[in-house]
Amino acid sequence: MKTILIPTSSAKHLAKRLKAKTKDIEVHLPDLNMEGKRYFPDGEIYMKIVKAKNLQNRKVIVLHSGAPKPNEGLIELELILQILRDNNVKPEVFFTYFPYGMQDQVLEVGETNVAENLIEKLAHYYGVKKIYIIDAHFHGRQWTKKYPISYISAVPLLIKMAKKNFGKHILFLSPDIGGERRTKIPGMKKERINSYQVKMAFPRIDLDGKTVGVVDDMIKTGGTLLKFYEIAKKSKAKRIIALVAHGVFPPGISKIKQIYSKLYLTNTINRKASNIDITNLIIKTVLSIDSVET
Ligand code: R5P
Repeated sequence: MKTILIPTSSAKHLAKRLKAKTKDIEVHLPDLNMEGKRYFPDGEIYMKIVKAKNLQNRKVIVLHSGAPKPNEGLIELELILQILRDNNVKPEVFFTYFPYGMQDQVLEVGETNVAENLIEKLAHYYGVKKIYIIDAHFHGRQWTKKYPISYISAVPLLIKMAKKNFGKHILFLSPDIGGERRTKIPGMKKERINSYQVKMAFPRIDLDGKTVGVVDDMIKTGGTLLKFYEIAKKSKAKRIIALVAHGVFPPGISKIKQIYSKLYLTNTINRKASNIDITNLIIKTVLSIDSVET
């Protein structure tokens, strides 16, 4: 039986590719405007899943990307999950990019762990059986162990593509210790000054004359990778390339594209600058197939 895939608006670009690539996935596009008859001019979102009643006992995956519209996207996701819950369907949710993933701990009194709350609600209220996440910012945090999360990483694919073009001898680094925790690639000491700027210590590894590949989970403002470039240049790296899973914020992506020798960026978020397709990774994961060409 085919796996049913229900994409939110932010994941339509991936659903289209998945549909073209495999016959084992059936895409059910939700109706977001009452088949053209009516809409809510005040900005509220309408949602209908035409065949919701027939989805019991089927493998149903809701595919979502937390950008470009993190807030509207969450409402869309919730409406889909509400409809599935009403119809006794227990789905899986696949986040190509997890929204609010950086708000993953409480640092000051009065804050909340937004990422955990969302996961908690999916698992315990909506009965989501499994939550797939590509390069989650909170990968490795203690609290995540309580939930049915399955981590997927685009990093091996990014590294494979970089090696194909720049040879085997690239020195890979993470721009910070969080990156090191997630990928096990050695990280730099980084301190955030504000939303746009960071401080970074010089690496203890010798970069002189080397091709350096910085691996990060996301580009937001570009501040992190701009600083990394500056430090690597001063450390006499010959060539500096960037390997990034999520292109969150287009102005940040442009800055990085302008100065780096090459930016490898996946399409977990629908961005023009994306040059690495992750649909085979999705197919492999949800259909448990080992050998999809990447
Ligand atoms: C930080 O912990 C993240 O892994 C990224 O390095 C960071 O969010 C990138 O943001 P920006 O591009 O604004 O520096």
